[in-house]
Amino acid sequence: MIILAETEVKDKLDEILSHHSANRDELIPILQEVQEALGYLPQEAMQKVARFLHLPESAVFGVSTFYAQFKFFPTGKKKVRLCRGTACHVRGAPHILEEVEKRLGIKPGETTDDLEYSLETIACFGSCALAPVMVVDDNVYGRMTPKKVAQILGDKKRD
Ligand code: FES
Repeated sequence: MIILAETEVKDKLDEILSHHSANRDELIPILQEVQEALGYLPQEAMQKVARFLHLPESAVFGVSTFYAQFKFFPTGKKKVRLCRGTACHVRGAPHILEEVEKRLGIKPGETTDDLEYSLETIACFGSCALAPVMVVDDNVYGRMTPKKVAQILGDKKRD
């Protein structure tokens, strides 16, 4: 994800809106493009989209919260996902989560202040034979241990 300055966000939005018509059917495609460009939907972007489409801000917010694909906070460059499924749970997933939380200093659903990492938990990756499972971006790590967390996340330790 690229973090842009306020003026760059404005320029990016102007550029995106310049190739859309002010038609309400354009709302979702516009929001998708904004999220792709910025990594999330900042409030000022949703306000601007609302003005552009002559819609109340509440309508734009309502639509964007309906779809799970839209995010309202910046996410980290790397996404750490941990399985909270039964197979992983019984094989020690809670200890893995604890170690990741300790190292990154964040809880599931949060992003580190430096926007390097986001942490999420997933119901099941479908790789239960490898339990407990951790996925960092597209890399799947099976039979996780707290020690392996340290190797994978390096010295990303927070006090
Ligand atoms: S329960 Fe963890 S991968 Fe299925």
